[in-house]
Formats: sequence, C-alpha cells, structure tokens
Amino acid sequence: MEFTTEIKKATDPIYQKISRAVPDIEWPSFAPYIYEINKLKRQKNAIILAHNYQTPEIYHGISDFSADSLALAIEAAKTKADIIVMCGVHFMAETAKLMSPNKKVLLPDMRAGCSLSSSITGEDVRELKKKYPGVPVVSYVNTSADVKSETDVCCTSANAVKIVNSLGVRKVIFLPDDYLAKYVASQTDVEIISWKGTCEVHEQFNDEEINQIRKENPGIKVIAHPECPPDVIKASDFTGSTSGMIKYVKDNQPEKVMMVTECSMSDNVQVDNPNVEFIRPCNLCPHMKRITLPKILDCLKNETNEILLDDKTIKSARKSVIRMTEIGR
Ligand code: 13P
Ligand code: SF4
Repeated sequence: MEFTTEIKKATDPIYQKISRAVPDIEWPSFAPYIYEINKLKRQKNAIILAHNYQTPEIYHGISDFSADSLALAIEAAKTKADIIVMCGVHFMAETAKLMSPNKKVLLPDMRAGCSLSSSITGEDVRELKKKYPGVPVVSYVNTSADVKSETDVCCTSANAVKIVNSLGVRKVIFLPDDYLAKYVASQTDVEIISWKGTCEVHEQFNDEEINQIRKENPGIKVIAHPECPPDVIKASDFTGSTSGMIKYVKDNQPEKVMMVTECSMSDNVQVDNPNVEFIRPCNLCPHMKRITLPKILDCLKNETNEILLDDKTIKSARKSVIRMTEIGR
C-alpha cells in the first residue's frame, strides 16, 4: 500500500505520539493500513478491542479500547458496535462472543492460541469434577468455551483472589495455570486444587535474571505478572494483571522499571510515561504476535475469521463469565 501525502497528513498525529516506540523507517509501511482500518471501522460501525500485549501500531494506532482480559470481556458486553475485532488471542475473542452473542466477533488470525488454553479440555474438567465431587471449579478466562461450560465461575489475573474468596468454601478446583494457582494460594486460606498448565511466555523468567538486573540498576522497581513462577513473584516489588502493572507505573512513576511480562507492554506503556526508563529483558508471545495490521484490515474488509459458537455452548459457557463480571475487579 502506498504512503501518500494525504495518508501522511492524516496519520501524523498518531506517529507523533508513538515515535519513541516505532522507528520512523517502519512508519510508511504501517500508516496506510492504520488509515484504511480507521476509515473502515467507522463505515462498518466496528470496534477494535486490543489486549495490552499488542504491538504499539495496533495498541495506539487503531484500537478503540485496549486493556487486560477482564476489561476486554466487560467492554465486549457493553459495546453498541455491530462488529467486534479482537486484537488478542482466540480465548479473548471467544469470551467476547460469549458476552455479546448477537454481535459479529472477528479474530484476525484464528491460529492465535494460548499455551494455557490448550493445556486443558472440557473432558479433563469433567474427570476432575468426578474426582472432587462438589468442589467448585474456578477457571481462568484463558480457557476454551468447552472448559468454561464446565466451570462455576471464571477469573482473570486481576480478580482471581477475589473470585476464590467470594465462593465462601474451603476448597476450590482452580484451572489451568499452576503458577497463578500458587499465587492465589499464597493470598488466601482456601485450599487450591490446581492443574499443570503454564504460560509459555511467563514461565521463562527466573529470579536469577531479576537479581542480576537489580544489581546493575540500583533502585529499579520490578513488577511481575502472576503467571510467572513463584521465585519471580517473590523477587518482585509488585504483582498484578497487565492493567494492574500499567496502573502501577502510571501512579508511581518509578525512575526505572522492569516489567516481567510480554515485550509489547513496555513499548506501549513507555509512550504514555516518557519519564520512566524501561529495562528489558522481556519475552514475546508468539500467539499475540500473529495479529498484524494487514490481517486486521483483511478480516474487517471481508468479515472473515468469525467466531461461531452453538447456542448450547453459549448458554452453558456464558454463565461462568457473567458471574465473574458481576463480582468484578
Ligand atoms: P491479563 O488478564 O493480565 O491481561 O493477562 C492475560 C494474558 O494472557 C497474560 O498472559
Ligand atoms: Fe497465553 Fe501466555 Fe500468550 Fe498470554 S502471554 S496469551 S497466557 S501464551
């Protein structure tokens, strides 16, 4: 696509905002897509929801709402748009469909999965329920609609502890993230029966890496996502969902910070916090990175890659997500 004078003029305010996160050599290849997508979404009354791990040209360039997975689910239920384009992974698009079953929900790349979601099936949950009769099931939203159908209440990393405590029971089955389960167990008296799922991005961090970075950067604040292993959580100053981490930086304005999570977070948050220095390393989520501007334009233009769920699944899976949103953050 051509980077015309008209497109340059129309997209220049966006570039001025994100110039620290996007090299100027890359802008002529992004701007025509940003221009077209923004035009098309107005014509079609579409909304673009983006997870915090999307790249800066998506997060700042075309999204109408960017957030953590809890806020994306809530926004999907509220929107008046006819079409929802989910810039995120499959379980996020499926959750949006559960929240807004009458809307057209599109996912720019159907292969955008999640190692947590693929670690467990509905059949696995049925087996667990047989093994622990009467014990309520709390599932992370990072699961398929089939798993949600077998679930009493969903949670995200933003409200996992609150959801578990809200049940008023002594024991829960908590799926599928073993590290998030360990984090929740450290924050509650409720006994947690966990599953063996892990996030392939967060499991790669370790405390040695953090201790080394602290040595090289005295005074640095280290903030971690609760999908990280327990040694990483212990070595961090703060633990929270992706939006919780963003709020921490905004409110505290640390001189230097390391966000122990997916790489795009630091790029995106840097744009809104120019006085904070972000120290990497970080890890890329290959699933989130499948979402690109050309794929977003293609699926919006042709209305392809629609999330379709049968009525029975919607009915059974929706309850657990609605119950979560009623409990809130
Ligand atoms: P959040 O709910 O914190 O946005 O996390 C979702 C996710 O997939 C993190 O890896
Ligand atoms: Fe799944 Fe981890 Fe990627 Fe989030 S970062 S989508 S939990 S694999």
